[in-house]
Parts: sequence; C-alpha cells; structure tokens
Amino acid sequence: MSNKNQFDNKSQAWSARFSEPVSDLVKRYTASVFFDKRLALFDIQGSLAHAEMLAHVGVITSDDYANIQKGMAQITAEIQSGQFEWLLDLEDVHLNIEKRLVELIGDAGKRLHTGRSRNDQVATDIRLWLRNEIDHIIVLLKALRKALATLAVKEHATIMPGFTHLQVAQPITFGHHMLAYAEMFGRDIERLEDCRKRTNRLPLGAAALAGTTWPIDRQRVAQTLGFDSVCVNSLDAVSDRDFAIEFVAAASLIMMHISRFSEELVLWMSPRIGFIDLADRFCTGSSIMPQKKNPDVPELARGKTGRVYGHLQALLTLMKGQPLTYNKDNQEDKEGLFDSADTIRDTLTIFVDMIPGIRVKKERMETAAKEGFSTATDLADYLVRKGMPFRDAHETVALAVRQCEEKGCDLADLSLAELQTLHPSIGEDVFQFLTLEGSVSARKHIGGTAPERVLIEAHSILNE
Ligand code: ARG
Repeated sequence: MSNKNQFDNKSQAWSARFSEPVSDLVKRYTASVFFDKRLALFDIQGSLAHAEMLAHVGVITSDDYANIQKGMAQITAEIQSGQFEWLLDLEDVHLNIEKRLVELIGDAGKRLHTGRSRNDQVATDIRLWLRNEIDHIIVLLKALRKALATLAVKEHATIMPGFTHLQVAQPITFGHHMLAYAEMFGRDIERLEDCRKRTNRLPLGAAALAGTTWPIDRQRVAQTLGFDSVCVNSLDAVSDRDFAIEFVAAASLIMMHISRFSEELVLWMSPRIGFIDLADRFCTGSSIMPQKKNPDVPELARGKTGRVYGHLQALLTLMKGQPLTYNKDNQEDKEGLFDSADTIRDTLTIFVDMIPGIRVKKERMETAAKEGFSTATDLADYLVRKGMPFRDAHETVALAVRQCEEKGCDLADLSLAELQTLHPSIGEDVFQFLTLEGSVSARKHIGGTAPERVLIEAHSILNE
C-alpha cells in the first residue's frame, strides 16, 4: 500500500516496486545529478530526436511530439536562465528533465521514454557531449600550432643550443624548437579526429540492453543527431566506454606534450639559464621574496598532467571488471571525463594566449650555444669532406675539444695554424663551418634546423 511508504514514490521513476526508502547517504551516493546535469542540453537534443522518430513511425502522435517540443523548449530556457530546479531525489539529469516534462505537458511527457532506457540514453548523451568537446579541442590545438608557427617565423634565425642529455649538443634555431611542439600537437589533432569517429556512433535504440519491440528507426535518429552510424550490437552499445578511454588517452598525450613544453619554459625562465621571459600575466610573485617572478602557469600545467593521467587509469580500471552489459559502475565515467576535457580546454586556451608573449633573449641563447663546443660535429663533417673517414674525424675533433678546454676557448677561437695540426688540408674556409650561423644554415633539408627551412615549415602550418 503506497500510503504506508515514508517516501514520495511519485518522485522516483522506479519506486513503485520498493517498500523502503533509501537513506540520505545512499541517495547522495547513488545520485549523479550534481555532475551529470552538465549533459542537460545534450539529453534534450537526444530526447527530441527520439520523439521525432517515435512520431514518424507512429508510436506517438504528432500532437504528443509537438507537446514534447514545447515542453523541452521551456525546460531549455529554464536551464539556461538558471531557474531549473535540480533535485537530488530525482537521481540524475535524465529523470530530472523527464519529471519536469511530465509536470509541464502531462501524458505526452510520460510517453517519451517508450522504446528507450536510461542506459542507451546516457550513452548517447555522453557521446554527443564528447563530440562537441573534441571539436572545440581540435580548434584550440590548431590555434596552438599557429601560435607556435608565428613565433617560429619571428625567431626563425634565432640561435640557441640544442641539447641531448641536457648538455649542449649542437646549435639549432629557436623557430625549429617551437615547430617540434607544433608536430606533437599535430599528431594530437590526428588522434582526436580518429577518436571522434568511434565516438560519433548512436547507441540509442539499444534500450536497456536487448533492443526494443517497438518499430524504431535508428538510422533516422542517427541522422537527426549527426551521428555517422549506429552501434550495431545493443549489448555493446549500452556498455561500451572505449570512446571515453580513447579520448582521455589522447588527452593524456596532449598534457604530456604540454608538460614537456612547460618544463622547458620553466628551465628557460630560470635566471640561471635566462633564455626567455614570459609575460607578467602568466607569472606570480613570491609573498616573501620580492625579487621573484615565478612561471606559475607552466608549472601548474605540468602539475595538472597528473590528474589527467589519473583519470585514464581510473577509466581503464572502471571498465576492466564489468560483465556485460550496463552496470551502475558506469556512472563513475563522467567526472574524470569532464575534468579531463576541462583541464585540456583551459590549458590549451591559456597556452594559445601565452605563446605570443614569449620574449626570447637572443644573446643569452647564443652565448650558451657557443659554450658547449656545439659545432664539433660540423668540424668533423668538414674533415670528412677533406677525405678523412668519419670515425677518425670524430676522434680528431675530440682531441681538438680537449685542446680548447685546456686553453679555455671555443673551437672557432683556434688559429688556422692550430687547426692545421689536426689535418693539413684544413683551410680558411673552415671558419664558416665553425660559426653557429654556418652550422644551422647548412642543415636545410626537410626536417632540418636551418632558418630557411623553418620559414618553409612555419608558413605551411600558417597556411593550413
Ligand atoms: N545516471 C546513470 C549513469 O550515469 C544513468 C543510467 C542509469 N541506468 C540505470 N539502469 N540505473 O550511468
């Protein structure tokens, strides 16, 4: 007898079968409305497409469909103006919206859920939401590549030391270094485009798990919602979260790239190295040390990488023990997914803004490039051109470096006579190879660090 119930069983979509209320803690524990309400507009979009199809195949009347449209328009307005009342008692975004619809339009609202379940509904909502996020993130990654390419054009001939093992290795151009990151973010775009293909499939129609007895037209719903195709197995459709894992994996790689870049910005900004300065608005001071200007934004970006990796681990673990098909575990997919997208979006937006403000300190970079005998390989190549086998040339230049270390000078500071002791055929022309400019300009092949090559590659990104 329903009047024996302590709780209002009209407020819960499934409550007629239950004779005892859940505790407040269990209610909070099982509810998702406070985080899944951000799916609301996608939920409405999915419901409208479903209702349109139900009307088209004659499961509901066109009057019902018109009422559903009207009710949903009002609900959309209420949500957008912040007036919509979200109730914990109604568990999740789907039941909150459905309940309000029934309040507004009565029976037509109750017919909306024909041939559908929250299981295929939520899977559809997440895919619609994620597709939209992916599209925004791709736009940001493209802007980031352009920002890097613009800086590369500006600094195409700026020389800096290139490092291996964090030791000065060979001179490179700063533009070339920026374009290395443009490559990484280019691959990130490819990965997201690929992930989008598997995200953009329609689960709706799978109903709870087994499909439905109603004569539904899934292709029609897919088309209305802009999905490329429908999920072909109903069991897989309601339980698959691969697309979410793929996205967070791609997001993890984006953050890894951002983190490597951040690490370099932090190092370069350290007064010890002093290669760059960042615009003040991306840095903060210290509350005790007045001289400090800390690169907070890159440091935080490096730090936030960890939370996205964590979400990837959490999602993989979430899925590994689940038998087919839907289990409530799946409700745990959302917060990590949302947070990954938010973190990526904010981080990329800030970086697009920060990159043009990177001020390069050319003299510091050039001095550093000269300090590590960075043209030693060029001298070896020169000796090879004069007929010495490369391994011998390598050995010979190593001896020359030792000489320089003893004298406390650079290779280019050795006199011609001193250099000729290495190999008699060394001529005046050697000095053009020992300079930093000579070294970088000679590497003008595809992928090389020469200023002219940097300009070509940067312009091709800017023209994309
Ligand atoms: N809030 C749920 C989720 O996020 C919706 C699906 C609920 N389905 C169910 N059978 N309880 O997964």
